[in-house]
Amino acid sequence: MIVVNPSNNNSLTFGAIAAVDEMLLEGLDDNSTLIGHAQGLVGAVGRDGSVASMLDFVFTEGEYNGSTLAIYGRFVEGDTIERPVIGGTGKFRMAKGYSIAKPVVVSATKVVYEFDVYVWHKEMKDN
Ligand SMILES: *[C@@H]1O[C@H](CO)[C@@H](O)[C@H](O)[C@H]1NC(C)=O
Ligand SMILES: *[C@@H]1O[C@H](CO)[C@@H](O)[C@H](O)[C@H]1NC(C)=O
Ligand SMILES: *[C@@H]1O[C@H](CO)[C@@H](O)[C@H](O)[C@H]1NC(C)=O
Repeated sequence: MIVVNPSNNNSLTFGAIAAVDEMLLEGLDDNSTLIGHAQGLVGAVGRDGSVASMLDFVFTEGEYNGSTLAIYGRFVEGDTIERPVIGGTGKFRMAKGYSIAKPVVVSATKVVYEFDVYVWHKEMKDN
């Protein structure tokens, strides 16, 4: 949902900010298991069309239920997107790593990204 929109149309042009809450599914199929949500803010920060995102992956299933991963970074839409993993909570405390996202379904009504996320994190005894 675009919440700040200097161009006053429905596109993410320079200066626009959007709130994001998207499903995280295990697989690419619409019916695959819901494992959490990606929540955060996305802003059009570059006059070259680049975008910066602050996203938390909030897991609600299985071993990582209740844990989160913070993914931050600038990207250009349409490309393979590499962003740093800058931290986490719960099982992902002290997380550090990177994520690679690729658009695999692009239609007028939706875009589906495939994420590969590589993290190093410390196993915490109280979790
Ligand atoms: C929205 O406005 C921007 C800036 O004026 C323009 O570049 C862009 O093409 C517009 N997008 C649409 C979908 O009309
Ligand atoms: C998802 O499930 C619905 C309802 O069971 C079914 O109609 C649909 O074909 C399934 N989609 C895929 C991609 O398997
Ligand atoms: C995930 O954790 C929440 C909070 O502890 C709990 O209510 C929920 O049942 C858990 N979900 C699964 C699928 O284990």
